[in-house]
Amino acid sequence: AFSCTARASAPVHNLTVIGSGLMGAGIAQVSAQTGHNVTLVDMTNELLQRAEQRIKGSVERVAKKQFKEDPKAQSDFASQTLSRIKYMVDVEKSVGSDCDLLIEAIIENMKIKQNLFSKLDKVAPSSTIFTSNTSSLSITEMASVTGRADRFGGLHFFNPVAVMKLVEVVRIAGTSDATFDTLTSYVTAVKKTPVCCKDTPGFIVNRLLVPYLAEAMRLLERGDASARDIDTAMKLGAGYPMGPIELADYVGLDVNKFVLDGWHKKFPDNPLFAPSETLNKLVDEGKLGVKTGEGFYKYDKK
Ligand code: NAI
Repeated sequence: AFSCTARASAPVHNLTVIGSGLMGAGIAQVSAQTGHNVTLVDMTNELLQRAEQRIKGSVERVAKKQFKEDPKAQSDFASQTLSRIKYMVDVEKSVGSDCDLLIEAIIENMKIKQNLFSKLDKVAPSSTIFTSNTSSLSITEMASVTGRADRFGGLHFFNPVAVMKLVEVVRIAGTSDATFDTLTSYVTAVKKTPVCCKDTPGFIVNRLLVPYLAEAMRLLERGDASARDIDTAMKLGAGYPMGPIELADYVGLDVNKFVLDGWHKKFPDNPLFAPSETLNKLVDEGKLGVKTGEGFYKYDKK
């Protein structure tokens, strides 16, 4: 095992985040809030404008919380943060000569991520460190299409990025100590807590969480207990803030299924990754959880 203490390392000043969705926008926000210059990339200007609006709203909420009685400090913080983010549709131009770090947060698809990394490897400065925010795919397979495995790793943030304190720093076999140190220092600089692990399916959190959620669904499928009782039991008996069934609905049942199916295909003999019939049925019916108004539970649509 290796430890996660960051030693002196080359600091990150400028970073490029590819994908301005839920995660990419959050990563851009927390980086800008802590003084980093960010270039945020997506495929269309409409998507970027939507991201900009979301970031603005979230930064304003953070500012209000951080500078409670001081409207001037609030608006200074918000405008300085927002001025540090540039928006761009041209991926190849987004990694300029001063880009220290690239964070990929696009769709969870290996082929599409590999295409992006292979394209960027040709145009990015050799000093730029490449990372992926993937939840379930192999970082090693992504790095394999580039010539910079020593400057490659995983940076796995959690949703919602502005709130969640953890980032998993993933080391592949080739990741150099210098790269690893820069990544852990960057995580500390954005005021998150780094933990590090090898490039293993689900890293730490999802490797434990995904089988746990699936096991809760199997308990429900067997009729051993109701959804409500399973959730209440884990909240009051294990001290978890959410029960597994409501958490599955919150994460999205399509996301749960996608990760479970991917791992089941890759590791068919591991019973922890076995598919769940109920999960498959709900996804087939378009009941994806909180976001569609129904999953295991029903929700009021906003
Ligand atoms: P999302 O769907 O909200 O955002 C993805 C964005 O990437 C979209 O705006 C899309 O237009 C853009 N995009 C897709 N292909 C692109 C390309 N070739 N070039 C530029 N932009 C492109 O997805 P989300 O939830 O932000 O997830 C992104 C990544 O983060 C995935 O790898 C996911 O596994 C990972 N992740 C997701 C978490 C979650 O709770 N949603 C938590 C931690 C990691």
